[in-house]
Amino acid sequence: MHEMAVYAGSASQALARRVSERLNMPLGDVRITRFPDTETHVQIGETVRGKDVFVIQSAAPPVNERLMELFILLDAFRRASVARLTAVVPYLAYTRQEKKSTGREPISARLVADLLGRAGAHRVVSIDLHTPAIQGFFDIAMDHLSAIPLLADELRRPELRDAVVVAPDVGRAKLAERFARFLDLSLAIVHKRRRASGEVEVRGIVGDVRGRLPIVIDDIIATGGTIGAAVDALVNAGARPEVIVAATHGLFAGDAETRLSHPAIREVVVTDTVEPASVVAITRVVSVSELLAEALRRIHEERSISELYPTLYPLRDSIPPA
Ligand code: R5P
Repeated sequence: MHEMAVYAGSASQALARRVSERLNMPLGDVRITRFPDTETHVQIGETVRGKDVFVIQSAAPPVNERLMELFILLDAFRRASVARLTAVVPYLAYTRQEKKSTGREPISARLVADLLGRAGAHRVVSIDLHTPAIQGFFDIAMDHLSAIPLLADELRRPELRDAVVVAPDVGRAKLAERFARFLDLSLAIVHKRRRASGEVEVRGIVGDVRGRLPIVIDDIIATGGTIGAAVDALVNAGARPEVIVAATHGLFAGDAETRLSHPAIREVVVTDTVEPASVVAITRVVSVSELLAEALRRIHEERSISELYPTLYPLRDSIPPA
């Protein structure tokens, strides 16, 4: 079997360290520098010939810079004759541009998938893609992991036994349904529309939220516009003004800080797929390092990834009584 090696891009240093600690191996040596004109240069510090190499780099903001750095890293490893090269992209950017909504638009998610392969990746690992169908955009092997069981475990608290899980838009209904199943809670769905200006408008809520504590679950929090609008609508519909917000990827762009400081939001839980920004509204960060370490180990050993979940995160009954 080829020797395993793990490297980190500049967006995922802390997460990659946690993963390598769990794998009981040192993080590989790679130097990433910028030329005065902002071009990126990388230099691998040791031979990687014939190795099974994993490069961990989230495409977190600044997205284009992180992606370009990842492409350059992959190119360097490919040219250094690795045996197999896996791009581990815990948060993959551009996945919200996965179709044309109007004429004359790009399908950037497909472009990024192609570029990862062209840069040299034999395989891509990512977590909670905006739409699972994006797996099919890759011509190379793709392992799609989910942090939903981890977030559910984090909120498996007796005081939340009567909570209601809320999808902040129709597109997140499946994600929220899966999350609700892990906690054996009921589900409500917010009917959201994004205006051309980018502003979020709520048209209605499907499901019973009156007098209940809502747990709003999303894949991404960017500007917090979706969450803010959902929270307003939930409170107006009679839900308890003690909303818990959970999401896999906390990008926290623009006015996110202000929107998440909403008086009706009591907790914001995200994972470390994106290095947590210094956003005071975040109350808890759940690490995906165990999930990633186990996935990488299994990929290296050619073992099943789908069997990882029942082992690490078994489907439990419901929230236990206090
Ligand atoms: C939308 O479909 C996504 O699932 C997120 O709800 C959205 O992208 C979050 O963006 P923002 O926080 O800017 O509303």
